[in-house]
Amino acid sequence: MTIVSPSLLSADFLNLRQEIEAFDKAEQIWFHLDVMDGHYVPNLTFGHTVLKDIHKTTKHKLDAHLMVSNPELYIDQFANLGLHNLTFHWEACLHQDSMIAEIKKRYPSVGVSLNPATPLEVMPEYIFSNIDLLLIMSVNPGFGGQSFIEGVVDKIKKASELRKRLGLNFKIQVDGGITDKNAKMLRQAGADILVAGSYIFGAEEAEYINRVESLR
Ligand code: DX5
Ligand code: ZN
Repeated sequence: MTIVSPSLLSADFLNLRQEIEAFDKAEQIWFHLDVMDGHYVPNLTFGHTVLKDIHKTTKHKLDAHLMVSNPELYIDQFANLGLHNLTFHWEACLHQDSMIAEIKKRYPSVGVSLNPATPLEVMPEYIFSNIDLLLIMSVNPGFGGQSFIEGVVDKIKKASELRKRLGLNFKIQVDGGITDKNAKMLRQAGADILVAGSYIFGAEEAEYINRVESLR
């Protein structure tokens, strides 16, 4: 079953507990937590102070997407917050191989993210055996509510073919501009986890879970 990942970036921050609890009855969802530093991307969101209590309010897995410069500074800081997965941007990191190893020591799952204009080929093949998740950005990182960039669909297909050829099972996650209009095409291209912010939280609260279901 496709995992759907509601991005809290589009939630009502003044009502975060209620927004999170609205998904209590949902199955196979991960909460997507966009950490932005106002440097790697031109926007600021939240860090440790907000993340630290989220796992106490939900049974769902937590997935942090670091859109920050110097991502290595956050590995220890976020290590005891109940996060399931920690993803960093390949482009923001100088020592990707050791970054992956350090995350693996402290988290159940490690993810690497590629911006829309970064080709899959920047990652040497051996790296794919060391990761649990590949995040393919389908918008330029920084903001919710942007339009899906069609050009990334080929990258999703290539990643899916590579995974098959190498006999691996890392998850392919897609993030940005996802709605019920493109979800099926993305699943067919090879995506296992669909992140959606404005599409899910743009509905009335009672509709959130229906929106989740409409993506799989
Ligand atoms: C964008 C973030 C996304 C964002 C997606 O930089 O990484 O996770 O919340 O939002 P939508 O689904 O509105 O494009
Ligand atoms: Zn994200």
